[in-house]
Amino acid sequence: MCGVKCITFVLWIDILNVITGENNSKLVLTPLHPVIHVGEDLEMTCQVTDCPVNVTFVWTSATDKFLAAEFKNEHTVSYLLIRSISVIHSETVMCKSTCDGKILQKMAKIEVFSFPEDPVLPKVKSLIANQEEKLICTVHNIYPLERFHIEWLRGDKTLHKEELDVQNSDHVQNYSSVFNYTPSVDDLGKNISCKATLNLNGLERTTTAEYGPGTMTVSSNNTSVKLGEHLEITCHADGNPKPKIFWWKLGETEPEHQSQNNKLIISNASWSQAGWYRCGASNNVGSQQMSVKVIVTGPPNIPKIQLSHRGELKEGENITIFCSSDGGPAELKLYRQSQSAATGGLNESAVLLNISSIHITDAGIYICEAKNDFGIERSTMTITVKAQHSISRNPDLPVAILPAVGSVSLLTAAGLLIRHCRKKARSDSSTLG
Ligand SMILES: *[C@@H]1O[C@H](CO)[C@@H](O)[C@H](O)[C@H]1NC(C)=O
Ligand SMILES: *[C@@H]1O[C@H](CO)[C@@H](O)[C@H](O)[C@H]1NC(C)=O
Ligand SMILES: *[C@@H]1O[C@H](CO)[C@@H](O)[C@H](O)[C@H]1NC(C)=O
Ligand SMILES: *[C@@H]1O[C@H](CO)[C@@H](O)[C@H](O)[C@H]1NC(C)=O
Ligand SMILES: *[C@@H]1O[C@H](CO)[C@@H](O)[C@H](O)[C@H]1NC(C)=O
Ligand SMILES: *[C@@H]1O[C@H](CO)[C@@H](O)[C@H](O)[C@H]1NC(C)=O
Ligand SMILES: *[C@@H]1O[C@H](CO)[C@@H](O)[C@H](O)[C@H]1NC(C)=O
Ligand SMILES: *[C@@H]1O[C@H](CO)[C@@H](O)[C@H](O)[C@H]1NC(C)=O
Repeated sequence: MCGVKCITFVLWIDILNVITGENNSKLVLTPLHPVIHVGEDLEMTCQVTDCPVNVTFVWTSATDKFLAAEFKNEHTVSYLLIRSISVIHSETVMCKSTCDGKILQKMAKIEVFSFPEDPVLPKVKSLIANQEEKLICTVHNIYPLERFHIEWLRGDKTLHKEELDVQNSDHVQNYSSVFNYTPSVDDLGKNISCKATLNLNGLERTTTAEYGPGTMTVSSNNTSVKLGEHLEITCHADGNPKPKIFWWKLGETEPEHQSQNNKLIISNASWSQAGWYRCGASNNVGSQQMSVKVIVTGPPNIPKIQLSHRGELKEGENITIFCSSDGGPAELKLYRQSQSAATGGLNESAVLLNISSIHITDAGIYICEAKNDFGIERSTMTITVKAQHSISRNPDLPVAILPAVGSVSLLTAAGLLIRHCRKKARSDSSTLG
């Protein structure tokens, strides 16, 4: 590369040196721009090249902070060692050398910094959409503070940047950034982080907040399913670490096995699957749950009609006729053919009819009917009564007015199996009396 011209040039300089009597010495100071963390040791080397004799060195700084430093000189090299550097060493240092009467000097700027740890974020119980939360990010032992800034992020998006208004800090400091954050629904599921940067050597440290499940959402509000059909509901919850999701049916102790990938799956819906389900989300910070009502729709099952009595019925006996349905919501009615009905409420699973001291005229067909918006089903029972000669009554008298005549026949009905519906059933039964 250099070639003949170059060799000639070098020779020429050497000859010149000999002629002028000047040495060709140079001073090399390393490192020229040390950036060093508080507490570390700094070694600097000041070397004079091409000096034919021993060199004398003097290290100086603007303020005399290097008294504690160690120096070592060897022929043409001088070493400066500062053990466990501190912020006071942030300044310019000069190495001055004398080689055979020639003075050479160089300066280096020492930059001391402190940024020993990641930001600290206290755990946040939960982040709830549209609800303000006060977040605090603390960074300990920072220097120099004027080169420091903090950024809050949700996912990759910057939420808030904090530039500090500090000048000439002269000691290691702690800094806390307080951020009042109102999460939006779109942010659900994204991490929230605090990024601390020291603009000195590009040091960046990020800590991601751990927070418990907050806002929960379900994929579908359409929680109504037809008998025998399929329903899936997915539950989502925010949180870091990612919350575990599970579903269970209220009234059942064990969390449901039906839960797969956050989904509640009902295939071939049956009446017994209707009801309230709960979706729970939990991680090591907290837990949260929400409820979903699953409605199963379809025509009622064929209701059951039963008699309290076995065998032949004789006049004067007290009987009860039961009408019950184990299907979905249906209005139950129990009545004697072509007569007024004993009606149960929508959510009663049984209606009953008491006939005390039964009479021949009470014989007939009794109908138990279950009806809802999707259909109607009936069961019937024929009741025959064997006459007892001792009891006489006008056979033409309608059942409905019998109580007014005496105590011979009393027709009452009540749905009793569901406690809170008793009252309603009673008031219905009064229309029969
Ligand atoms: C340089 O200094 C060393 C001691 O540090 C000494 O032994 C040596 O003789 C000196 N050389 C010259 C050329 O002065
Ligand atoms: C910074 O925080 C640490 C830990 O909380 C504490 O020990 C230290 O004294 C604080 N330093 C300053 C300068 O406040
Ligand atoms: C959220 O942060 C955690 C570390 O705290 C990380 O493991 C996880 O992958 C992050 N999740 C997302 C969605 O970025
Ligand atoms: C469910 O209903 C709520 C309020 O009624 C609504 O805000 C939400 O968007 C609905 N979700 C779906 C998936 O339809
Ligand atoms: C759905 O459930 C009903 C009643 O439990 C059952 O008779 C039927 O075979 C089931 N159908 C399927 C496809 O599993
Ligand atoms: C039927 O019930 C009435 C009270 O309603 C009671 O006085 C009567 O003894 C009962 N008769 C029989 C046979 O149990
Ligand atoms: C039962 O039905 C009545 C109306 O018939 C309704 O007001 C009530 O809330 C229902 N109760 C339950 C537990 O579904
Ligand atoms: C009907 O009879 C049953 C006993 O068979 C009794 O427990 C119930 O209270 C009676 N209901 C009415 C409304 O009299």
